[in-house]
Amino acid sequence: MDKHKLHETAKALVAEGKGILAADESSGTIKKRFDAIGVESTEENRRAYRDLLFTTEGAGDYISGVILFDETIRQSAEDGTPFPKVLEQQGIIPGIKVDQGAKPLALAGGETVTEGLDGLRERLEEYRGLGARFAKWRAVLSIDGDHIPSDYAIWTNAHALARYAALSQDEDIVPIVEPEVLMDGTHTIDRAYSVTSRTLQAVFTELYDQRVDFEGMLLKPNMVLPGYDAAEQVSHEEIAQTTITCFKRTVPAAVPGVVFLSGGQSDEDATARLNAMNALGADLPWQLSFSYGRALQAAAQKAWGGSAENRDAAQRAFYHRAKMNSAARTGSYAPEMEREAVTA
Ligand code: 13P
Repeated sequence: MDKHKLHETAKALVAEGKGILAADESSGTIKKRFDAIGVESTEENRRAYRDLLFTTEGAGDYISGVILFDETIRQSAEDGTPFPKVLEQQGIIPGIKVDQGAKPLALAGGETVTEGLDGLRERLEEYRGLGARFAKWRAVLSIDGDHIPSDYAIWTNAHALARYAALSQDEDIVPIVEPEVLMDGTHTIDRAYSVTSRTLQAVFTELYDQRVDFEGMLLKPNMVLPGYDAAEQVSHEEIAQTTITCFKRTVPAAVPGVVFLSGGQSDEDATARLNAMNALGADLPWQLSFSYGRALQAAAQKAWGGSAENRDAAQRAFYHRAKMNSAARTGSYAPEMEREAVTA
């Protein structure tokens, strides 16, 4: 393991004013996104869509890295340049999703464990050869009542996340460790706080036990907020305070960055809440950044609608969201900026 290289890559992914684009939707997920805009999910449509995102002029000003899916890392831009190379030319670091999805956890009555450890070392080697310098593995935990997620689901997922992270570092690839506590449900912010805290405690215990180098990884967590269907919703500031309190108590200071997932929040909420955290002015040990999928892409997908003639409009929409989230990294975002004219 080349620690220096891992540390440099991890730091570059959370460089000032920049964050990560998660464009690693599996075939099933991208089909859902395309269904919503009336586009057929063919290999060429998926390629054309990713092409427009990755070739957006100036994207590298705000985007440090892009997470790709297995199919995408093997595809090329219109002119034949492989996507990882296109990203490098933009000053963007290519990454790869390496988990193989959440599957039913045995004897757990509906909870899941993320699979994909078998043959992972060989896949990491191949992906490194294709240009990937970082990877992502997502564990999923749902909140349901007072007993779900179970400790069994939390610890099994934490163990798998650490197995993946250790293998990645052994292959000189920076692991992004993503234990996602879903935001769906009627639970309170207090319940989200206790589940997220418990989960992060378990994840960092497993990472420590499995010798993962904290300086050479990034954490990709959920923000701590009430379930989407909860009776009581709270302000961005309360979400920011609660999330930071949770991390101060669970995330080692050695971890260079926390890169949030958006998890179905509206584009503007995802930006405003990240901004609220960075605006607190608290002296935090980690960079607080973004690794958004939906919150960076929804507007672009809508503008594109599967039509080559909408390519420029879609690129402008993507560039605008990247720029807004970049502002949120320094706490300088204001909703008025949404109305500014955008130029790609
Ligand atoms: P969302 O931002 O849409 O939650 O996606 C981020 C991600 O990579 C989930 O694994």
